Amino acid sequence: MSTPIYYANDRPHIGHVYTTTLCDVYARSMRAIGHDTFFLTGTDEHGLKVEQSATEQGLTPQELADRNSEEFQTIMSTFEMTNDDFLRTTDPRHKKQVQAFVTKLLEKGDIYLGTFEGWYDEGQEEYHTETSARDLDYTSSISGKPLVRATEKNYYFKLSAYQDCLEKLFESNPKFVLPQSRKNEVLGRLREGLQDVPISRTNFSWGIPMPDDSEHVIYVWIDALFNYITALGLGDPESTEFAERSDFWPASYHIIGKEILWFHSVIWPAVLTALDLPLPHCIYAHSFWIREGRKMSKSMGNFIDLETIESYVNKYCLDAWRYYLVTQGPLGASDADFVSDKFQDIYTSHLVNTVGNCTSRVTAMIGKYFGGVVPSESQDGERLVFDGFDWPEKCKNATEGWVAGMESFSLVAAFEAPMALIRDIDLFINDTAPFKLAKEETNQPQVAAILYQCIESLRIASMMLTPLLPNKMNEFHHAIGVDSNQGSFEELLSWGGIQEGTTITKVALFPRVDQ
Ligand code: MSP
Repeated sequence: MSTPIYYANDRPHIGHVYTTTLCDVYARSMRAIGHDTFFLTGTDEHGLKVEQSATEQGLTPQELADRNSEEFQTIMSTFEMTNDDFLRTTDPRHKKQVQAFVTKLLEKGDIYLGTFEGWYDEGQEEYHTETSARDLDYTSSISGKPLVRATEKNYYFKLSAYQDCLEKLFESNPKFVLPQSRKNEVLGRLREGLQDVPISRTNFSWGIPMPDDSEHVIYVWIDALFNYITALGLGDPESTEFAERSDFWPASYHIIGKEILWFHSVIWPAVLTALDLPLPHCIYAHSFWIREGRKMSKSMGNFIDLETIESYVNKYCLDAWRYYLVTQGPLGASDADFVSDKFQDIYTSHLVNTVGNCTSRVTAMIGKYFGGVVPSESQDGERLVFDGFDWPEKCKNATEGWVAGMESFSLVAAFEAPMALIRDIDLFINDTAPFKLAKEETNQPQVAAILYQCIESLRIASMMLTPLLPNKMNEFHHAIGVDSNQGSFEELLSWGGIQEGTTITKVALFPRVDQ
């Protein structure tokens, strides 16, 4: 699974952190379930934009790329991302393989030399068809600048030859592009007909040279898309990377933003097909964060930049930031508004009042009534069951919901499963009132069973929440004497994992924060 590789002409902002966090949560979940997982991210360092930004700043393109790539690598550790590799497109291992792939496409006739004229978005380095240029009113939807009429002698990729193959792909594999509404957009554009695409440039030099024709550099998008397979060594079967990583292809998910879906869902599968390589299982295109109702843009200066993100992390904690991003973000077809008041509300109601309150309530009662030692849920060898609260069954259902949600990348639905379980535990405590029962010595077995069932259900909910809230859940596991790294997923999620007699301590995971 992969993020897009991020342009090295810019500094990281919420968009980059969002996509990477989604992937991190998914990767951690897949590892927990027991799937072999390879999580890839990196920086896209070639192209006109990097060359121009470097010139403006009095740097060489390589110096600028080094500086910005380093910042992206730093945020991977600041935000505790568990990526297995960080690919830089200026890395020789990548460049060598891109040239090998392009050579293969030249030999097969899928790349040829020709002349091209079209509408060009200079900022995006992207050509538009006549129809799409007209729809855009001949203006870039990203920068707002006019599209320019450009002519170039170029190497082309024979995209038009893949029209039928791509249409069939979309028909036979309805989940190739998600969400569904995005797939329909691509299909609509696809049905307008495909033209061959230029894949080389001669107006600047910061890129990977075309094999045997160094006047041309390979178009940055072709160079960048290959990252998904060069990181796995697919262009160099002699390499140790190939030996160790080639089984990770095809990817389960390429997670991207909606603005780069065309490249990923049309051009990329056509290139892979031309190379006789299998296709990724799914291209998942999320929507955009906007801020307090307005589009974020450089000109408005309202991007949620690293400094702003860090202020939230410092105020609320990293897990709270991850929680807000993943559960309230633009995972579906609509954009999501980043609103400070909403952040505060979600933090308070979901994390302080639900996860925090329930874990502290249950650990405190075990402390108070059982000296901090986990009691038994059985009396005379028989489990006590409370009406309407079959906890092993509830936990099993929640786990199944979580796994199904995670595997289909429905992260919001997935995390609703443990959250609903925790709300249910609160309800159970209110219903059975162990704090009242505890007043009578004879009720001791009931109080013991209620609290065992609460702590055990909380433990199971916490296993599901760990990929999203890794630090807080580890703190919780430590307090309840659980090692979440020991045992298979089935074992960790089965009823009865917490042993009677385990000593636990009271926790306060999410302190109240004043706005
Ligand atoms: N370099 C290309 C991708 C090449 S992949 C083979 C690129 N880079 S980028 O730095 O511009 O990053 C784009 C990604 O950042 C988007 O796909 C998306 O993941 C994320 N976002 C950028 N702005 C965003 C928002 N406002 N909201 C959410 N994510 C957005 O494109």
